Amino acid sequence: MAQSFSRNILVTGGAGFIGSHVVRLFVNKYPDYRIINLDKLTYAGNLANLKDIKDRPNYVFVKGDICELDDMLSLFEQYAIDGVIHLAAESHVDRSIKDPFTFARTNVMGTLSLLQAAKMTWEGDYAGKRFYHISTDEVYGALDFDETLFTEDTRYNPHSPYSASKASSDHFVRAYHDTYGLPVVISNCSNNYGPYQFPEKLIPLFIHNIRHNKPLPVYGKGENVRDWLFVEDHARAIDVIFHHGRDGETYNIGGFNEWKNIDLIRVIVRTVDRLLNRPEGASDHLITFVTDRAGHDLRYAIDSSKLKNELGWEPSLQFEEGIEKTVRWYLDNQEWMDNVTSGDYQRYYDEMYANR
Ligand code: NAD
Ligand code: TYD
Repeated sequence: MAQSFSRNILVTGGAGFIGSHVVRLFVNKYPDYRIINLDKLTYAGNLANLKDIKDRPNYVFVKGDICELDDMLSLFEQYAIDGVIHLAAESHVDRSIKDPFTFARTNVMGTLSLLQAAKMTWEGDYAGKRFYHISTDEVYGALDFDETLFTEDTRYNPHSPYSASKASSDHFVRAYHDTYGLPVVISNCSNNYGPYQFPEKLIPLFIHNIRHNKPLPVYGKGENVRDWLFVEDHARAIDVIFHHGRDGETYNIGGFNEWKNIDLIRVIVRTVDRLLNRPEGASDHLITFVTDRAGHDLRYAIDSSKLKNELGWEPSLQFEEGIEKTVRWYLDNQEWMDNVTSGDYQRYYDEMYANR
């Protein structure tokens, strides 16, 4: 007899970096929930991120595009979706500077089509339903060195096409709550790091380059500040907010862990050299200052005390521990990295699902 599930939760973008950690956490922790992972498998989606749970009875993978409203409506119907954790997005600022339209399509129109699918399927019967939108601290713009942290009340002031598209999607989520009563919750998180991050982002890119003795392109003077959170701590926060966050609320998620890029880069260089048994300082010469990113936000820093006070969430890892764990993971998982850098990972879908 087919197993029946207490909940059917649609996770979008589950083959990406953060999404894969969320899917793994939910599949393992809630065997009575069915987790439907909907992902378009863009360059950022990698099914190898979920190899360990792919055959679980409470896990389903569906290849699809959040922008296709008819497909989303069929999916909601087919799986009787009662909860959404929406992570699918274009997520890299540098790509958004080159191609803003793709960001508007996926992040704005894609979110809108999911909201509409939820509204049309649930038809005002919102008991037990939840639409959880995952967003970023970048919607708040940039802080000066002496400014206080972003709170949930900080005015939206996005600068990059990426953050503008995420800000717009947040506004649509709130509009569906205020206009149609859709039960929504939003969180805005700081920079994540950890296993399975695509090596276009600072930390995995630099670990990879140090290993292969390639230059480390530091934008500008390396003075920009980011607030770093270990990805599994973000996934835990998502679990807590999905289950206990108040309807219509926003929660900031951050590590109270600000690092100037150049200081962080020096920690990474030291850690990789040590773990590869290279002499201290061996890779320092790879650090290369390059032209700054256009409109480069100076500083992000998040105040996540609302989440701590209301829902009891706190980061579990000290940064030193998290970065050591992360560097080790990338060094130990060279095959994962090789498949990503060669493009080989894009054949996993055909191998795993296409001929079923
Ligand atoms: P990612 O780029 O690693 O993954 C995005 C996933 O979305 C990929 O699997 C991709 O295939 C999928 N996708 C893209 N377009 C799609 C579409 N049209 N339909 C279906 N799937 C599609 O991103 P990430 O870093 O894991 O970020 C996930 C979410 O968290 C994003 O919404 C991002 O804005 C947000 N966020 C990220 C960070 C961070 O530091 N990475 C911090 C705060 C918030
Ligand atoms: P990134 O990982 O792209 O995240 P975000 O832009 O969303 O914060 O970049 C983190 C910081 O590192 C950011 O200040 C830009 C900087 N950076 C570099 O200096 N060199 C690089 O090659 C990359 C990818 C980022």
